[in-house]
Amino acid sequence: MAPPAQIPSLDIDPFDDAFLAAPYTFHGALRDAGPVIWLKPINCFAMARYAEVSASLKDWQTFVSGRGVGMTDFATDTPWRPPSLLLETDPPVHDRTRGLMNKVASLSSLKTAMPQWCAKAEILVDRLLGQRVDGVRDLGEQFPLSVFPDLIGIREEGREHLIPYGTTAFNGFGPRNRLFEEAIANAAAASAAVMESCRRENLAPNGWGMKVYEAADRGDCTPEEAERLVRSFLTAGLDTTVNGIGNMLHAFAQHPDQWAKLRADPSLAKKAFEESLRWDGTVQTFFRTTSRNVPLPDGHIPAGSKVILFLASANRDPRQWERSEEFDISRSSSGHVGFGFGIHQCLGQMVARMEAEALLKAMIPRVREIRLVGKPVRRLNNTLHALASLPLQLLAD
Ligand code: HEM
Repeated sequence: MAPPAQIPSLDIDPFDDAFLAAPYTFHGALRDAGPVIWLKPINCFAMARYAEVSASLKDWQTFVSGRGVGMTDFATDTPWRPPSLLLETDPPVHDRTRGLMNKVASLSSLKTAMPQWCAKAEILVDRLLGQRVDGVRDLGEQFPLSVFPDLIGIREEGREHLIPYGTTAFNGFGPRNRLFEEAIANAAAASAAVMESCRRENLAPNGWGMKVYEAADRGDCTPEEAERLVRSFLTAGLDTTVNGIGNMLHAFAQHPDQWAKLRADPSLAKKAFEESLRWDGTVQTFFRTTSRNVPLPDGHIPAGSKVILFLASANRDPRQWERSEEFDISRSSSGHVGFGFGIHQCLGQMVARMEAEALLKAMIPRVREIRLVGKPVRRLNNTLHALASLPLQLLAD
């Protein structure tokens, strides 16, 4: 496909290893090139500024999700798995599925779970205090794994497949590069195990998974749809929070003054997590497909085009944020698009927030300093900004 003449064209591949390892070093060039740009190596339109990214996320009629939110166009290519009934669906189906899932993922059930989550976080932090730990494995993975599968009501058997399955799904939104091919080649076992966990007979009576089947009993969806909706919790609910927590700890390790600020005023805990999502969000990009020609001052984006939206770049756009490159937990990061925006905005955002809050509440009184004691190792993923390892020492008071 030839690049439209009027649209700035860049020779940057957002899915090559250099970009995935250090996306923030490239975002400025993407934003400065124009509000809508063309990325030659992937033959795709892109938006990296806050105004255009948030406007496109909001305009679901023009920027549709039903043709996939990755590079694969479901209108012309077969998706690697049956599409999500939430993420990869447009209204009217999305209104129905999202409506029933909003009721399942209720704030009141999270509030009930919170004291237990806080107690678990305290035990975990007490155990790790003073030691050399891996911030990703020992905290980022351990904590969500100790609370999230129980919230959904997943059986013990097969839980080891949950993070690999999420990783696969997020790599699957990219082009057919090495990460995509490796993910798909390894997907069979994890997919089968996760789908097995989503079956009604394998779910605990009071978890969110069973509540989806109860919605099916009331006629809000079919039992087949219920199985796929439970899958949405499992796809989106772990690798995101693992890296959300990992990136937050990394941010604090790089900014000891911000950790000191939080300790001096623990009421900043909620803001601190939001700012870490703005400053280094784990979900970097999602795609949309245009349902019609999108007029631009000079030319247009043709109907049926894929557009990559750089959420993490929007979150550091100096046109939107003062001192956009600074991690500052006392700022208002409200309006960041780390959880998306519009009708597809993250269904599990309160889960992520409460996990992070429970962990921070346990760490604030116990941990004087989050010290980096080795070089963090990146884990490249086509969608997520992720760490394979984050060597830390949690210094006690
Ligand atoms: C830090 C953690 C998380 C981040 C950064 C994150 C980010 C996002 C983003 C950016 C979207 C929007 C996708 C789009 O517009 O195409 C989204 C949607 C979604 N998220 Fe999350 N997420 C997180 C945690 C979770 C958790 C814990 C769950 C499950 C409990 C979850 C379930 C979902 C689902 C089901 C959707 C699709 C919603 C829809 O299409 O209506 N997420 N998430």
